[in-house]
Amino acid sequence: MKISALEVRADALIATWSQKGRVTYPTLWLRDNCPSAFHPQTEERVLDLLSLDLEPVLVDAQRSGDTVILHYADGHISHVPTSLLFANRPGRTALDPAAIAPRLWRADLTPANLPRYAASQLLENDCALRAWMQDTAAVGLSIVDGLDDRIDAGVEIACKIGFLRETNFGMTFEVVSKPDPNNLAYTAVTLPLHTDLPNQEVPPGFQFLHCLANEAEGGGSLFADGFALANDLRTKDPEAFRLLCEVPIPFRFHDRDADIRTHAPVITLDRAGTVSEIRWNAHIAATFDMPAEILPAYYRAYRTFMAMTRDPAYQITFKLKAGEMIVFDNRRVLHGREAFNPATGFRHLHGCYVDRGEFNSRLRLLARKTH
Ligand code: OGA
Ligand code: ZN
Repeated sequence: MKISALEVRADALIATWSQKGRVTYPTLWLRDNCPSAFHPQTEERVLDLLSLDLEPVLVDAQRSGDTVILHYADGHISHVPTSLLFANRPGRTALDPAAIAPRLWRADLTPANLPRYAASQLLENDCALRAWMQDTAAVGLSIVDGLDDRIDAGVEIACKIGFLRETNFGMTFEVVSKPDPNNLAYTAVTLPLHTDLPNQEVPPGFQFLHCLANEAEGGGSLFADGFALANDLRTKDPEAFRLLCEVPIPFRFHDRDADIRTHAPVITLDRAGTVSEIRWNAHIAATFDMPAEILPAYYRAYRTFMAMTRDPAYQITFKLKAGEMIVFDNRRVLHGREAFNPATGFRHLHGCYVDRGEFNSRLRLLARKTH
């Protein structure tokens, strides 16, 4: 991208880019982002912003090859690569290899077209790892198959992405029917569609459930794209959507060792107003504590969303097999399972989480070294 003209004002540089037109760079921003403001090795900012005037004065700008040389009234000179000015045009977020647009799905996602990757490829090949992560980010859901019959086989793949997210259920957890369960997942009952741990200040990001055995009758899995549900609610019932975005509800998990609570809305929007997070877990939603005047309308909205989660038009269902691992964005995709009968066979999933920040960091690192 080429600069066709530079205009100097005391308070700003105005660059005309050959295809993007005029872009204004305020002088204080130019000083704050002068390459000399950053440590040469760590690339962290070392400049003290308060050492500058609030209104530094730009006096001259010259192009010299791929650099723009800026002179200021206090004598400072900046040598700014043109590429840096282009990549950081104010008002525009810098390109991010981890910013992958969600591809929303409803019943059109089927076991046959669900992204599916072989464990061995992911462990050996960074291009495959990246392709899998990109698909998992876009769809919010994927399957890894061909895992060894070892308890750690799924965790090893999660660790290719980043640090595990430890929770009150441990660094990893066993989903088996237990004699003294502290969580419905550790029973054999139906788990309606939900997201895990919305009672946490930040719920875990990506969830990994490695199936070691699924021999009992029942125990099928189901998933729904929470972003598709929320977007459809937005269109068909804007008032219900508004309430689910605006009214925080209490979530709580408690047992002998923990009492973890938060208030948060069911739907969170990002700064562009796009749905960015779903918290949905009817079994750990605590007693609604909003004012009585709001309760009837809120219940109506909450039940509308709940009814949508029960609609097969939003669901994908299949039964996990030993050696498969389901991976999903727990802050987007709702998951559930049918009841199973433990008397008819063993069912065992081994689970862990990796937060979105770790996941995105790995995507950016893979973008540096793969194409
Ligand atoms: C869970 C869970 C699903 C299953 O452990 O959070 O939802 O298939 N398990 O048992
Ligand atoms: Zn769960």
